[in-house]
Amino acid sequence: MLPNIRFEYGDVTTLNVDAEFDIVTAARTLQWIADPASAISKMRLATKSSGFLVVLDYNHSCNEWEPDPPSEFKFFYNAFLAWRQINGWDNEMANRLRDLFRSAGLTNVSASSQDEVVERGEPEFVAQAALWGEVIENVGGQFVRAGLITELQLEEGRECYTAWLKTTLRKQTLAMRAVTGWCHRLKRSMRSASRAPLLCAAAGTGAVARSPPRPAQKILRSCISTRTESDVGSPKCR
Ligand SMILES: C[S@@+](CC[C@H](N)C(=O)[O-])C[C@H]1O[C@@H](n2cnc3c(N)ncnc32)[C@H](O)[C@@H]1O
Repeated sequence: MLPNIRFEYGDVTTLNVDAEFDIVTAARTLQWIADPASAISKMRLATKSSGFLVVLDYNHSCNEWEPDPPSEFKFFYNAFLAWRQINGWDNEMANRLRDLFRSAGLTNVSASSQDEVVERGEPEFVAQAALWGEVIENVGGQFVRAGLITELQLEEGRECYTAWLKTTLRKQTLAMRAVTGWCHRLKRSMRSASRAPLLCAAAGTGAVARSPPRPAQKILRSCISTRTESDVGSPKCR
């Protein structure tokens, strides 16, 4: 635990804070926001000059399963994507982040692939792959009410997916990206820090001796990775 980091949480759509935080971050959250440009703009306003923004999110239309899932599950998954679209939630949120960061005036914007890949035999396989059963359970009724799927089709999707998960699914890839951007043009030494693993960048910022300790919002655990891919022009899903 780093002693001089303070975490605060806030509603990203109503954030009204002026240059108070060193790091402002949102993980798997902008996927639920119909106006992510406004959210990023508010997050930027909350960031101090020389602070940075980190956002991790999904590209739901790029998720993959091996082997190909049963058609009943695919039907459910297409209803999930359509339901998101109806609500104004971007199914390729992660792919939009870099442009949104740049439009909000952030600099040194860089993206890293953070796909969540889980394979049969790995300890977290059952829990991670069970995600879709939870989605059916928690929000499936909304797909039915929106006329995207019938109760029967939803139940078939759940049953087929559960059975397929137990016996057949080998690998699930949830397509994700993390994007960082700085609040102003940085000095050379700070620019190289942005290419380091994100925990180091966060720790480096927090380690600077200041009194009182500099506050930050929260650290994005999913981004603590050595896998950085600065500003690559990646194809749509990879
Ligand atoms: C899929 S969960 C991700 C939770 C956690 N950040 C993580 O990465 O595991 C989506 C989160 O978005 C949050 N959320 C939804 N709308 C929000 C908003 N307007 N402002 C802030 N958080 C919001 C929900 O409370 C929920 O915790």
